[in-house]
Amino acid sequence: MEYNLGFIGGGNMSTIIFKGILRNDTHPASQTWVSGPHPENLEHWKKMGANVTCSNGEVFEKCDIVFLGVKPAMLHEALKDVGDSLSRRFVDNPDLLVISMLAGVNLDSLQKAFSALNLQKDVKNFIKIVRIMPNVPMAVGSGISLYSYNHLGGKQKSEMVRLLQCCGSCEEIPEYLMDSLGSLTGCGPAYIFVIIEALADGAVKQGVPRAMALRNAAQMVMGSAALVLESNKHPAQLKDEVCSPGGSTICGVSVLEEGRLRSTLINALEASTNRTKKLDPNAANSK
Ligand SMILES: NC(=O)c1ccc[n+]([C@@H]2O[C@H](COP(=O)([O-])OP(=O)(O)OC[C@H]3O[C@@H](n4cnc5c(N)ncnc54)[C@H](OP(=O)(O)O)[C@@H]3O)[C@@H](O)[C@H]2O)c1
Repeated sequence: MEYNLGFIGGGNMSTIIFKGILRNDTHPASQTWVSGPHPENLEHWKKMGANVTCSNGEVFEKCDIVFLGVKPAMLHEALKDVGDSLSRRFVDNPDLLVISMLAGVNLDSLQKAFSALNLQKDVKNFIKIVRIMPNVPMAVGSGISLYSYNHLGGKQKSEMVRLLQCCGSCEEIPEYLMDSLGSLTGCGPAYIFVIIEALADGAVKQGVPRAMALRNAAQMVMGSAALVLESNKHPAQLKDEVCSPGGSTICGVSVLEEGRLRSTLINALEASTNRTKKLDPNAANSK
């Protein structure tokens, strides 16, 4: 499938996705456009061979699949001057897929933001919008992209999945789960980084060199996660299997319970989800 790929906003997450696409040779850099307000922040895209512009309209005019990668609060600013470009592009090419990665911004809000652009009615109908929630482990090909949409053609969907799978797994979910499950997958890596760091601190406290402690803590977390996925056993069963009666593991688990680790993690996810819901610039309680 011959097409041009675009990114509105070339920050961290857009860069992670594009690097994955390049790593897998899935789309050529020469047929990729990226826009942002500060060209000096897009030098790394130039080095990767992509076309760089300050005009978001140019990306919409030239590209068939466009990732929206600005911060949620910048949504309206990013779409401010793109109406004429969008109208022009539809003369030659009516198919446009917009893939929004904006946390907390729902499909209805995205649709409204495009509808407010004063486009012709039939042009509005051609814009297909998908909402995704990516995460940072995509940087090493082990990420998750959750996605939801209202209407999407089969070819556009399979191409989007092909692009996202360059960075890990990809799962379609109902949109009402996006803020909660998206907070788990999108914010969860930071929780795990804190846990890895704390475990390494525990080892360092007992004399293990820092780098050795961190390497082994991270490998242990990765292996434990793989065991959950591959064994199909409930994590509670796996925990029970490691805790021999009167052994050292159950002594540690008992301290975790005293420290209320489970309810702390449950509350953390609730806090992230509540905050995510407020990121939508159209939400009544947005801040
Ligand atoms: N990071 C994560 O873990 C994560 C996870 C899931 C979803 N997301 C979502 O991904 C999106 C991007 O996050 P990020 O972490 O990549 O943020 P980021 O690194 O700050 O990237 C945002 C980019 O948007 C550009 N930008 C600002 N105003 C713009 C405009 N008017 N038009 C075009 N580009 C504009 C910025 O350019 P300048 O820097 O030059 O101003 C910057 O390159 C957010 O909506 C976030 O909710 C992020």
